[in-house]
Amino acid sequence: MRPVIMSTDPGIDDAVAIALAVASPALDVKLLCPVAGNVDRAKTTANTLKLLAFLQATIPVVPGSARPLLRAPQAAADIHGESGLDGFAFPQPTQVADTTQTAVAAMHQVVSTSVAPVTLIAIGPLTDIALFAHLYPEDLPNVAELVIMGGALGRGNLGVLAEFNFACDPEAAAMVAALPVPLRIAPLEVGQQARLLPATLAQIKTLGPVGAMFDGLFSHYRGGSMQTGLKMYDALAVALVLAPELFTEVATHLDVALADPLTAGASLFDLKGYRQQADNVHVATAVDAAGFARWLVAVLGKLA
Ligand code: BDR
Ligand code: CA
Repeated sequence: MRPVIMSTDPGIDDAVAIALAVASPALDVKLLCPVAGNVDRAKTTANTLKLLAFLQATIPVVPGSARPLLRAPQAAADIHGESGLDGFAFPQPTQVADTTQTAVAAMHQVVSTSVAPVTLIAIGPLTDIALFAHLYPEDLPNVAELVIMGGALGRGNLGVLAEFNFACDPEAAAMVAALPVPLRIAPLEVGQQARLLPATLAQIKTLGPVGAMFDGLFSHYRGGSMQTGLKMYDALAVALVLAPELFTEVATHLDVALADPLTAGASLFDLKGYRQQADNVHVATAVDAAGFARWLVAVLGKLA
């Protein structure tokens, strides 16, 4: 089993990503760190705890940052609902968040003591990953890889050019792009390519209580539609870890735009090598959408 830490802002697609990680026998989720993103930190923390109660999983939850490094928080309640997980009546949480330490201290504790290198999965703004790496650079050799949902090869979904997770905290994204760890990225476009189509949504609905739960969330999710397909962006990051054969990945140089408010958070994946900089990331440029849907249903089915 690969030890894993997830930095997340549930978020309906975050909930799918967490469920996939929990369901997968190949992953040992050591720590969940809710960060401010889709909704505020109090809500992303409450959502993480509610989801774990539903999944009957016990995983330490240590809240991360309540705001980006330098900028004001942004939210996406228009996509995920006011609570961040609208559409299902979750049970009361059975565990509480650990507020005796910071998320980055908890990350340090896990990474510095793990015998096996730890995989970091970041599916929200990158604030806590940047802080962890800044405060504990000595831990980075024990990071197997950092797998991110974020950025866009072309146009964005928050700004004209900026994807939500990068646009929320561009400085953190820029710091993370420069880290000396293997960095793999699922950008906006692979989420768009791998939309869950009606036939797959119908299959998910049959997966017992977990299927009913996701069907409720999906009917409130505004990341696409149940008719034309739902964009499960964050699930792609977990698939990159567990089913890399589904993706085409390209080594390239990534810079993150910071200075101009019109472009802050834009991800410049230099696929044509214009800048002649060393590769610092692997970015997924294509995904086998049908294979991804089959994989997702099979893994969620383990929870049924
Ligand atoms: C990202 O933004 C959030 O709304 C989703 O949870 C995902 O992490 C997609 O741009
Ligand atoms: Ca997210």
